[in-house]
Amino acid sequence: MSETTQSIHGQWSGKLAFILAATGSAVGLGNIWKFPYITGENGGGAFVLVYLLCIAFIGVPIMMAEILLGRRGRQSPINTMASIARAEGLSPAWKWLGVMGVVTGFIILSYYSVIAGWALAYVERAVSGAFQGANGEQVGAIFANLTGDWEKQLAWHTVFMVMTMLVVARGVRGGLERAVSILMPGLFVILIFLVGYAVAQGDFQKGWHFMFDPDFSRLNAHAVLTAMGHAFFTLSLGMGAIMIYGSYLPKNVSITRVSFTVAVADTVVALLAGLAIFPIVFANQLEPGAGPGLVFQTLPLAFGQMPGGIIIGTLFFIMLTFAAWSSAISIIEPAVAWLVEKVGVTRHVACLLAGTATWALGIGTILSFNAWSDKTWLGKTFFDILDYLTANILLPAGGFLIAIFVAWMMRRQSVLEELNVKDGPWFEFWHFLIRFVAPAAVVIVFVQAIGLLG
Ligand code: PFF
Repeated sequence: MSETTQSIHGQWSGKLAFILAATGSAVGLGNIWKFPYITGENGGGAFVLVYLLCIAFIGVPIMMAEILLGRRGRQSPINTMASIARAEGLSPAWKWLGVMGVVTGFIILSYYSVIAGWALAYVERAVSGAFQGANGEQVGAIFANLTGDWEKQLAWHTVFMVMTMLVVARGVRGGLERAVSILMPGLFVILIFLVGYAVAQGDFQKGWHFMFDPDFSRLNAHAVLTAMGHAFFTLSLGMGAIMIYGSYLPKNVSITRVSFTVAVADTVVALLAGLAIFPIVFANQLEPGAGPGLVFQTLPLAFGQMPGGIIIGTLFFIMLTFAAWSSAISIIEPAVAWLVEKVGVTRHVACLLAGTATWALGIGTILSFNAWSDKTWLGKTFFDILDYLTANILLPAGGFLIAIFVAWMMRRQSVLEELNVKDGPWFEFWHFLIRFVAPAAVVIVFVQAIGLLG
């Protein structure tokens, strides 16, 4: 294993490329679209606090574990798990953890691409000045018009899937690395600008208090499960995306440092997104718990009022698309790498196969906003079910098993070697988190949430 110095799929040019790629994977719709609306639905401050604790004590340690597995195995998550298990003298069944990851990614991308399609559609709406002078009701109507129309959504979903597969088809350096080094810096600049607007024009105080004053009476087991699930989702953990990015990481890079950097960047973007959105929500008497439509109905209001709103609105939705794009490529990369390894097809054919299957499943999500909107199971639409199943169940379960594998199954020496650190208090602290804290937290939250269902 340690004789494998490079993946057959390629390698990042260096540490910065990995940081950009992993941040590109982490920062996505989860930060700008999902984090604000689930914070709104779960009452604000206390939810944000639990989320931050999950990032620090579960997310970062598991991210380190995932990267180290990837770099040690240097293959798709399925073959990485199989080969490390073999080298460590463990059961070959561990490869099923990789299989679960690939399947999870396939499901996530199917709905992720539909929402990213909304972002694309909104670029077009913003350019054409559709939000200029619009009030809350009109902005709501523009959104309803899009989600009610399956053909429009299918068209944008198709465009987004093609964009994603075009990047992935070009490979690690020529596709993934090139894309993220353009997409990420731009996203950050626009976000700062929008927070500036919210400070100047929105009800910033109210937005701030909503996000940071913890009201624990609004926190229930379901909110805690959502916060934990989102910590996995936003850091792209538990399904092999960060593992495969780790498999392209050069040997000399410190896994500890890059993990911190990526987690901090991701958290900062989520908090900034909240601070850009909630002040506008409150200044316009909108509902913070408006659900998936929140970003698509609040920011356009601001764009419609501000000077230069057409340009800024357009840039915002371009940036949202970029964020989604740089995440989407990481969601499907494990499946593509596996198809290349297992079936022996070229990367192009693998992209076509994985992309088509994902695209087809996405149709279910599109219909759940219109034709199937009343077809629910336990009160959830098809989209809600996929979202719940992946973010709240499959990702935490994947993260739990990754923690168990690294902390309890692998030889301590192999772990130390791959992390390239000395056995000492820091290592002990991380090992403690991953051995006890992270797995126990996942189990406790699961049990509580199941109890709530029953
Ligand atoms: N982290 C991405 C986001 O916050 O939008 C979503 C994601 C990417 C989830 C990659 C899972 C994954 F493997």
